[in-house]
Amino acid sequence: MPVLAQAILASHNAGKVKEFQGWLQPWIGELLPLPATIEIAETADSFVGNACLKAATAAKEMGAWAIADDSGLVVHALQGAPGIYSARYGATDAERIERLLREMAGVSDRAAEFICVIALARPDGTIAVTTEGRCAGEILTAPRGQGGFGYDPIFWVPSQQRTFAEMSPTEKQQVSHRGQALQRLREYFQTFNP
Ligand code: IMP
Repeated sequence: MPVLAQAILASHNAGKVKEFQGWLQPWIGELLPLPATIEIAETADSFVGNACLKAATAAKEMGAWAIADDSGLVVHALQGAPGIYSARYGATDAERIERLLREMAGVSDRAAEFICVIALARPDGTIAVTTEGRCAGEILTAPRGQGGFGYDPIFWVPSQQRTFAEMSPTEKQQVSHRGQALQRLREYFQTFNP
């Protein structure tokens, strides 16, 4: 028996719903996407702020438990940019990568990290828990690999000697910021009592 028969994932992305549902079985029976009619603006100034805002709003709108994540790429030499603006750094993945590589031209400190925060909200909008995952890496000077999405082709993971775009989805989940935040949420559910 799942601990929660149903929950909402504050996202319209069917792929993300499937990924989260896979990780959160057997605790959540059915994870449903946010209806297309509900848009939640990411107006907070931190990953945790945006994750909580999205989870709380979705929970209150739907009168159900809700999960939300917020993630992005934090580049040391750019004082944390693009950070919470990672999705808005350009119109397409290619443009976002191009902009980042342009801003990093001639920069020798290539250190970066992906961060993901997940929030779980009760039906009244109060936050039950937040979890965080981080993955350290370096920004390459040119893309490598065909897999993944977003900044994956320019994000080199030294511990794996590959970019995110050169990993299989399973390999990426084992080291990624999102995989680690989800793993911590799974650990929370092991002792969860709604
Ligand atoms: P969010 O949907 O507001 O969490 O925005 C996340 C944005 O950060 C995405 O649109 C990507 O640009 C970037 N991002 C987050 N996670 C990843 C990842 O695993 N690989 C590549 N880019 C990512």
